Formats: sequence, C-alpha cells, structure tokens
Amino acid sequence: MSAVSEPSTVTEPTDSPVTRHDPRESAERHFPAGFLWGTATSAYQVEGAVAEDGRTPSIWDTFSATPGKVHGGHTGEVAADHYHRRAEDVALMAGLGLNAYRFSVSWPRVQPTGRGPAVQRGLDFYRALVDDLCERGVRPALTLYHWDLPQELEDSGGWANRDTVGRFAEYAHLVAEALGDRVPLWTTLNEPWCSAFLGYGSGRHAPGRTEPLAALRAAHHLNLAHGTAVSALRSVLRDSAKVAVSHNLHLVRPATTSAADRDAARRIDALGGRVFTGPMLDGRYPADLIEDTAAITDWDFVADGDLEAIRQPIDLLGVNFYTPTVVSATPEGQEPGRADGHGGSAHSPWPGSERVTFRQPPGERTASGWAVDPSALRELLVRVAREHPGLPLLVTENGAAFEDTLDADGAVHDPRRVAYLRAHLEAVHRAISDGADVRGYFLWSLLDNFEWSEGYAKRFGIVHVDFATQRRVLKDSARWYAAVARANALPQLR
Ligand code: FCB
Repeated sequence: MSAVSEPSTVTEPTDSPVTRHDPRESAERHFPAGFLWGTATSAYQVEGAVAEDGRTPSIWDTFSATPGKVHGGHTGEVAADHYHRRAEDVALMAGLGLNAYRFSVSWPRVQPTGRGPAVQRGLDFYRALVDDLCERGVRPALTLYHWDLPQELEDSGGWANRDTVGRFAEYAHLVAEALGDRVPLWTTLNEPWCSAFLGYGSGRHAPGRTEPLAALRAAHHLNLAHGTAVSALRSVLRDSAKVAVSHNLHLVRPATTSAADRDAARRIDALGGRVFTGPMLDGRYPADLIEDTAAITDWDFVADGDLEAIRQPIDLLGVNFYTPTVVSATPEGQEPGRADGHGGSAHSPWPGSERVTFRQPPGERTASGWAVDPSALRELLVRVAREHPGLPLLVTENGAAFEDTLDADGAVHDPRRVAYLRAHLEAVHRAISDGADVRGYFLWSLLDNFEWSEGYAKRFGIVHVDFATQRRVLKDSARWYAAVARANALPQLR
C-alpha cells in the first residue's frame, strides 16, 4: 500500500454560525433551477417477488429467514409488492410532480448466482420501470448495490473475499449494457459503511458476521468494487451519463471540547466516512485509520495498484443523512455506551474503537430513536463541499420514521414528518447559500417498506402501505413534499 493522508478536522460541538437559525429567513426560498426532487427506495425493501422470474436468494433473504435476526421474523418476501405494482407506484410519483426517482437493481434478479450472463426476465422489470419513469418525466437514478448480495457470493466469502470485486464489475457492465441508453444517473454502492461494518462487524445486517478483520477487508473490497464498477460503467455509458456513490458519512460531534473526546470523534470520523472518501476521492487511506486499526490488521489486503483503481473520477457525491453521531472517550473502568443508532449487538461495528462511548443527544427523536438535528445536515454538506471542491453533491437519502396511523377518515396525518422534512430542506437550502453545490434531494422513502433488521415496524414512507392489502394512501407529507417540488421552493414559514 502506498500513500496515506492526514486526518481532517472534526467539527466543534459548540453552536457555530453554521448551525444557528436566522429568524429573518422567512421569505420563500427557491432552490437552483433544475434541482432534482425525488424519492428513494431499494430493491429488497420494496420489490417482494423474491422467487419470481429466476431470482435467487440474496444475503438478506437468508438473514431475514434466520430466527432472531429481524424484528418479528419479517422478511422481504412480499415487501411493498412493488415488483407487481410498478406502474401504480410510478403513477404515484408522477402525480406528486416529482422529477426523479432513486431505486436499486437487485443483483440476484439480474445475475442470480453473481456469475455468468444476465437473466433477461429480471432485466425486463427494470427496463419496464425505466420506460415508465421516462414516459412520465421522472428521471431514473439507478443504484447498482443496495445490500442484496447474491447468497452464492457470500458462500464464497462475500465482501471479505477479493473475488467479489470482479463479480461486481461484471454485474455493473451487464446492467449498464441493458439500461445505459436510458438512465442518466448511476450510483455504484449505497452506504458501503453499512455493508462492511453492520454486515461483517456488528452482525446487525446481512450476512450477520461479527469479525472485525473481515469488516475492514470488506470495506476495502467495497472501495475497490466501486472503482472498478465506475470504470466498467464508463466503458459502456454515454458521456452525458453521471456516475456517483452514496455514503452515510456520519457527522461526528465530540461530546465536549476535551482532547480525549475530540480524539474519539476523529477516530469515528475516520471509520465512519474517511475509510471510503479517502481512497475514493483522494486515492489514500487515512493515516490515523491505519494506526487506529493496527491491532486488527496491517492492511496487507491492499494490493499494489488498488488505490489507483479505486480513485476514479465521479460526477456527483451522494450524501445520505438521518442523524448526527455524538461520541466521547470512555473513562477508565467504565463500559462504553452504545447509542450509535445502529442497533443493539454484543459486537461493535467500529473495529478498534472499544474505548469510544456513543451518546444519545438530547431532544426530539424519531421512531427509530434517532435524534432530530437538521443543523448537522447543513454542517455535513458544507464540510464535504469544502473538502472536495468542484464535486457536486446530491442528498440521496433523508427522511424519518414516525408512528403513523391510518385515520378512520382514510387520511394519514404526519405533522412530525412534515416538520422533519421542512427543517432538513431548510438545512439543504442554507448549505447551498453557504456555497455547497447540492443538485438534488431524494426523500427516503416513497413507500413504507422493509426497514432491514427493524422489519415493517418502522414506517419511512410519504405513502402509507397497508401490508395486508398493499393499498397505498398518500400521507400529508406526500402532499407537502409535492408542493415543495412543484414550486422548487420551500414555502414561507408560518
Ligand atoms: C439507510 C438505508 C436505507 C434505509 C434508511 C432508513 O441507512 O440506506 O435503505 O433503510 O437507512
């Protein structure tokens, strides 16, 4: 392995000018012309039809079928039945006046074993989806990998095995050949942090492994998979197509200004974001990350040429944001706190960070238990923009789960979601005013869906889904978001 970089600065915990609300900002606020207003979903969370048209199990089919792994024993077998209700769902988006839609392709649907030629029936579903979207003026934004690795590849070691990188590049090539003429925006990976550290570290996500070394290997192989997939995509796509990657970068705040807490924040900032942005955008692993994980590995799995292969120019960076992360150094003799928002597990998703305590910030929380703090989104966008000048940004996920109820009158009133969305869109708007080049916003999610280890217990949709009947009902938030998208502006504050 070659060069390493220095850590970047970690944000101050104090109320900086970036986070302060300006009460004079009450006029209608417009977004830049051409701003993308979309929703996001992912294949395993909405499609269902897990055994149709040649699809084989992914790691999430296996994991959710394993007792005790997912809330209530829920699985994605039916999910929101989007595979059969595609046209209805596209009509919903078009009816809301949204101009973009971020979805993912299920790898085991188009290349069931992760090897060999594509299954045409699987690709036909995505061809039809893309056609429907284009006909209705909704721009497709395709994610190649949103966590549903073909089980056969996991049986050969999954992301901890370097061979999976080549498999992914081949899969990317197949999908680009089938859909490259109609999809303007491509994303390689969704939140590789979750794939590596929840999948192979804490075991809260599929495949449920709890091996710190495998988690770090997986992170590197996901980086390499991204780079080789970008090259594969570029060899097929027309020049106008844009290529991106989506990260949950963890806006990390130290609990106090003490040197120990700041060091804890630096450590989590490296493992929560720079482990990916370092190699992808700067061609290096951060020096502090290598040092922090030295007891686990010397990173000998990084081969000559890997860093060059990973650092491929991308057109946009996708930022997924839900909540900030607050950490402190764990005092001697105490057990570290684990309120890191990534679910309970006896195993940490943070290899080498045994002495870091994750704190629950005070204030409002969503049904997922995640603190509501829109100032962190503004701070994150401004920081990323500053650190990577010239790279346009997209918010590729943001949203919240709340306890929604379908009222007797058939309505779903979700004022807390509206407030969450309004505050976070204000944060995006302020980040743009601060100079961040944000080109679009994809709300998570269009539909209530399978929320990974939480099953169907957490509803993130702006469209309510009755999972017994699959009936869709627009929540108030859907109407509110539609008005924002149509106006390309946030309404005046009342
Ligand atoms: C993100 C995932 C997405 C969804 C939201 C709530 O981490 O990318 O699939 O589950 O969280």
